Amino acid sequence: MPELPRGPRVHLRRRTADDAAEFTAAVVASAEFHHPWTEHPHDVAGYLDRQRGFDAEPDRRIPYLVCDNADGSIAGYVNVQNIVRYAFRNGTLGYAAFVHAAGKGLMSEALDLVVRHCFDPDGLDLHRLEANIRPDNAPSIALVERYGFRYEGLSPHFLFLDNAWRDHERWAITTEMLPPAAD
Ligand SMILES: CC(C)(COP(=O)(O)OP(=O)(O)OC[C@H]1O[C@@H](n2cnc3c(N)ncnc32)[C@H](O)[C@@H]1OP(=O)(O)O)[C@@H](O)C(=O)NCCC(=O)NCCS
Repeated sequence: MPELPRGPRVHLRRRTADDAAEFTAAVVASAEFHHPWTEHPHDVAGYLDRQRGFDAEPDRRIPYLVCDNADGSIAGYVNVQNIVRYAFRNGTLGYAAFVHAAGKGLMSEALDLVVRHCFDPDGLDLHRLEANIRPDNAPSIALVERYGFRYEGLSPHFLFLDNAWRDHERWAITTEMLPPAAD
């Protein structure tokens, strides 16, 4: 595996148990911003439980933190999950910015780093990534659409969020669609 990628303003690193306090504090501070789009454990015990889930399936679930190059602080995260290999070579992205770092272009930069790492033959060597997004989550749809993901269709009753099974749009990108790298 090559080193995880680094951009002008953010870099990726794998989330670990040691990040529990900083991550959980950011989750608490971002609760209003994340609602109703995504849900996270709000305490260290919940974080560690989730971490054990990631650690138990390292080939299938990889949690990346998006870290600010300026001070190393956690700006957000992108999880690559449901990784399937063989003829599919596919993964599902789940992501959020933390409120203090949102709207500054950091997640756009992080998405580019993650997609290129996932498609890199020396990285995860995947062929397709998908993001499942609620139809009314305009900022999230804008993020992937601007990058070059393609709308594939609607998955009814796809995820249990905010106390109900929510329809999600399927947005995906394959290696054939990767935009040229910025200079
Ligand atoms: C979706 C989400 C991750 C987007 O994160 P973000 O921090 O707003 O992303 P960015 O800052 O990279 O992009 C947002 C905007 O800032 C702009 N931007 C601001 N400063 C910028 C800069 N210096 N450089 C580039 N773009 C910049 C981007 O172009 C983009 O423009 P737009 O508002 O016209 O679309 C964030 O809104 C979020 O966490 N939402 C709640 C959780 C969630 O919905 N998760 C996804 C579930 S499917």
